[in-house]
Amino acid sequence: MNIKRIGILTAGGDCPGLNAVVRAASKNALRQGIEVLGFKNGFDGLVRNEFIKITDQTASGILTLGGTILGTSNIANPFKYTLSPFGTPQEPRDLSGVVLHNFKENMLDALIAIGGDGTLHMAQQFIDLGLPIVGVPKTIDNDLAATDQTFGFDSALHIATEAIDRLHTTAQSHHRVMIVETMGRYAGWIALRSAIAGGGDIVLIPEIPYNDDVIVNYILNRKSKGKTCSIVVAAEGAKNEKGEQTVARTVPGSTDAIRLGGIANKLSDMIESKTGIESRACILGHTQRGGTPTAFDRWLSTLYGAKALDMVLENKFGYMAAFHNFAMDEVKITEAISNLKRVDPHGDEVSCALKIGMSFGSRAIG
Ligand code: F6P
Repeated sequence: MNIKRIGILTAGGDCPGLNAVVRAASKNALRQGIEVLGFKNGFDGLVRNEFIKITDQTASGILTLGGTILGTSNIANPFKYTLSPFGTPQEPRDLSGVVLHNFKENMLDALIAIGGDGTLHMAQQFIDLGLPIVGVPKTIDNDLAATDQTFGFDSALHIATEAIDRLHTTAQSHHRVMIVETMGRYAGWIALRSAIAGGGDIVLIPEIPYNDDVIVNYILNRKSKGKTCSIVVAAEGAKNEKGEQTVARTVPGSTDAIRLGGIANKLSDMIESKTGIESRACILGHTQRGGTPTAFDRWLSTLYGAKALDMVLENKFGYMAAFHNFAMDEVKITEAISNLKRVDPHGDEVSCALKIGMSFGSRAIG
């Protein structure tokens, strides 16, 4: 197929590196005479037909910019559309036909959809309806099995590690336990890697159920050895032995409506009451998704964006750009969305953490 004009959109939660992907895909297209329309706020832009024309000027100066110049939405699902012009949610409607119509009206030859598993699910539904779509995976959680690393993860990891560094000095001064809560949904990558990189003492991740008494004994044992402060890194999705997670809110209309959060406060109360050591919680939240991407994420995003356009030119529709062994690759979107990548409780990283004396607050693992 001869490609003359493409659409591009960013959907789902934002993360550092989105603009770098938009820039690389657009630059690769523009220099080959292909027009690029940037749809606003994810698939909502294709429902409302709201877009900007991406020119050389638009694609310049955005490499280092956090967020997304196109805007995003994690609730604009054209197959179950609940948004209204007045902000009041409506009963879900299937507006996929409107998207197909706008795609044709704008004479698009292909679409690049940049997003997480929810976005890739929607992209696959449109592929099944005949739209030529290439996917680019995005998430700070790094929980997609189909790629070695998603862009945004490295930036989140740096933010979490820097926070742990800063919390160390205040914890030492006050002889406190600091509990740092990281994002990551149902995977413990941000918590585990930042805990290793930042020298955390206890790390709690969804993949390894924790036990309050193991945490308390570990902290008291440290104290008995003269270590008067401790750092606990808790993934927002960490589970106790009963399988309980801490839910902050639900977001109706979102592909996964559950928003985790608040475990650090619960742990802080528990640790303070059971150890008698003053404890404080620090929830990093959306700071992990904001701001300038790291050099690695700028590099990785650029590879993803340039590759996505190459895939469009090769008509690799239904595929997603992936990163394997430090090189770009492509995988079927259907494969990508069905497989989550989670920390292996018996893998090298967990084993390394244990070897240096860290604890997972677990009776089974340590
Ligand atoms: O998937 C990315 C992520 O930041 C998760 O780590 C977190 O649980 C969730 O999104 C937060 O979503 P929201 O921006 O809707 O609060």
